Amino acid sequence: MAKIFRFLTAACALALFAACSSGTQAPAEMPAPPAEPEEEEVDPTTADGIFTVAQAERGEVLFRSTCSECHDSADWTETGFKGRWEDQSVYQLWYYVNERMPYDNPWSLSRQQTTDVLTYIFQLNGLPAGDSELATDDDSIDDYWIAWSPRRP
Ligand code: HEC
Repeated sequence: MAKIFRFLTAACALALFAACSSGTQAPAEMPAPPAEPEEEEVDPTTADGIFTVAQAERGEVLFRSTCSECHDSADWTETGFKGRWEDQSVYQLWYYVNERMPYDNPWSLSRQQTTDVLTYIFQLNGLPAGDSELATDDDSIDDYWIAWSPRRP
C-alpha cells in the first residue's frame, strides 16, 4: 500500500512538472479566428408554440372524462407543480403521465391521449399554440424543455 502511494506521489509530481514546463513554453502565436457574431442558440421549449388549439381541446375533453375525478385543472397551474417540472424535458412529464395516470388505471392512456392532455396543461398555463400538433413519438417529445412562461419578446 505504502509503495503504491509512493509511486502515485512520484507520478503526480512528474505530471505536475510536465504540466509546468510545457506551460512555460509559449505556443506559437496563432491568430485567433475572428469572433463571429454567433446567433444565440436557444433550446426549444413549450413556450414555442409546439401544439395546436385543437389538440389542447382534445386534451381538455380527455381531462374532463378521465382526470377530473381526482384533479382540478388548477392543480396544473400551481407553483408547486410548475416548480417540479420546470426545465425538465417534456419527455419526463409525458412518461410520468403515460405510466402512472389515471392513478387507478395506469398504462391505459394511448400515446395520443397522453400527448393531448399535456398540451392542455400547457395551454392552461397560457403557453401559446402554434401551427402544428405536438407529435407523439419519443423524438418529438424529447425535443422540448418545459417552460411555463411565454418567451419575452
Ligand atoms: C383516481 C385518481 C386519479 C386520476 C383519475 C388521475 N390522477 Fe393524476 N394523480 C393522482 C394522484 C394520487 C397523484 C399523486 C401521485 C403521487 O404523488 O405518486 C397524481 C399525480 C399526477 C400528476 C403529477 C402532479 C405533480 O404535482 O407533479 C400529473 C401530471 C397527473 N397526475 C396527471 C393526470 C392526468 C393527465 C390524468 C388523466 C388522464 C390523471 N392524472 C388522472 C390521482 C389521479
